[in-house]
Amino acid sequence: MSITLHSPLDMHLHLRDGEMLQTVAPLSSETFAGAIVMPNLVPPVTTKEELIGYKARIQEAIGNDTFTPYMTLFFKPTYTKAFLESVKDELTAIKLYPAGITTNSEGGVSGFDIEELRPTLEAMSELEIPLCIHGETNGFVMDREAEFVAIYEKLATAFPKLTIIMEHITTKASVEALDKFDNLYATITLHHLLITLDDVAGGMLQPHLFCKPIAKRPEDREALRKVALEAHPKVMFGSDSAPHPQHAKEACGCAAGVFTAPIALQVLADLFKQHSTIENLQKFVSDNAKKIYKHITVPKKIVTLEKKPFVVPAKYGNVIPMYAGETLKYSIA
Ligand code: NCD
Ligand code: ZN
Repeated sequence: MSITLHSPLDMHLHLRDGEMLQTVAPLSSETFAGAIVMPNLVPPVTTKEELIGYKARIQEAIGNDTFTPYMTLFFKPTYTKAFLESVKDELTAIKLYPAGITTNSEGGVSGFDIEELRPTLEAMSELEIPLCIHGETNGFVMDREAEFVAIYEKLATAFPKLTIIMEHITTKASVEALDKFDNLYATITLHHLLITLDDVAGGMLQPHLFCKPIAKRPEDREALRKVALEAHPKVMFGSDSAPHPQHAKEACGCAAGVFTAPIALQVLADLFKQHSTIENLQKFVSDNAKKIYKHITVPKKIVTLEKKPFVVPAKYGNVIPMYAGETLKYSIA
């Protein structure tokens, strides 16, 4: 009856800093063996010193848990090959944000001029540093990701040896792009497998389900579910768990981000069980990621889920999780 997972990984996670880091880091390190840690702090992580310092603060926050923080830098087109060579051993990937598209992304890229990006992306390609991208244009909110597919295709073609990860995909259009280019991969969140725009704004507005990219149409969710549940080899789990304090969510001007770290594996187990694909969960939450990020070393960790009700706390510190106060079918043993 119980489900055993070997070294589950969260390939897109926001751990923040300071007090928030202290609250949320243990909630991931308890149940995951490692996570790709996003660099969108204020200011973003752009130097070797900042990266090393941030990693040390994470390690302090998780204490003795078996958990590897896979560090990332915030992409700048000014990174030289010499700089990347000097920082290569400290990082796992580099995260590119279009300027101003989401939380703390003001210093990101605008224009996507291939020639401007070429020196840095070619160096990353040669050094085998994967590029993670938040793929949204600044167009109409429901079309931003589908419009960005053209940019993914342009990058995948211009840098055929560069591993490009389409982060937190939410559309059928992105799913279709996966099979067109050998070097395109994707992370999929828990919430985008569960909700559509209707759950966010179809009734009373639900600030705790508001995130970037916004949840889309039922047919988009279907396309995501299909590749996640079959554990398509080019997709992997990345929660995009993005905590904000309650006052920043329940506000006039709600911060984007859904906090799912403490419930992710329990809910994934339920979803995969319901669809009779539980045998694929191991691939979706770990094995696929190990193949896509071929240079990561993953610590051994066994996580067991059992069919026993778990009442989701109303709050963790000052953060409201997804499904706060609700009862889940599975718990961590
Ligand atoms: C993330 C955050 O809060 O840092 N927010 C979100 O809605 N997903 C940023 C991001 O990944 O876009
Ligand atoms: Zn994110």
